[in-house]
Amino acid sequence: MKELVSMSINLHIFFVALTFVLAVINLLIVKNCNDYIKMTKRVELFAPLYYLSLSVVIFTGSVVLAVFKFHFKHSVYLMLLISLVIIIGAFKANRLFKMTRVKNIPSQDRYREFAYKKYLLDGVLIAVTAGISTLLN
Ligand code: HEM
Repeated sequence: MKELVSMSINLHIFFVALTFVLAVINLLIVKNCNDYIKMTKRVELFAPLYYLSLSVVIFTGSVVLAVFKFHFKHSVYLMLLISLVIIIGAFKANRLFKMTRVKNIPSQDRYREFAYKKYLLDGVLIAVTAGISTLLN
């Protein structure tokens, strides 16, 4: 049982780190890729990977939470809140991304601007949450 708990927490932390790295990669794509078609292709590859990794964070977190008999600590409330903030931002980013298909420059700029702020905020929130959770445990 002890091994299952420590393996689940390690897996959870591994995917937290991977999600952070993918947030940085997405941030660099929307910031540095000047050719719009190239940017779109990269976003179509790396944005789903980012959300897949986040969903594994939520899944492994839920397993750990279940093993701990749903004992909600303050740090767990924070983790849930941050995951929710990231998901809500994803809906807006996805809506703006779909609008860029019309190929007009203002909608492309709007997406780039929003996605840049979103991935920057996501990265900061993930790092701060991971730091606080580690300190509180
Ligand atoms: C972006 C979101 C998240 C981040 C950055 C994050 C980060 C972390 C970190 C760094 C730890 C290890 C703390 C330690 O023991 O040193 C941890 C543990 C844990 N996480 Fe998360 N997590 C996130 C999302 C979630 C979610 C969505 C859940 C629940 C569904 C969850 C449930 C847990 C639980 C139950 C633990 C074990 C806490 C304990 O030791 O009592 N996490 N998380």
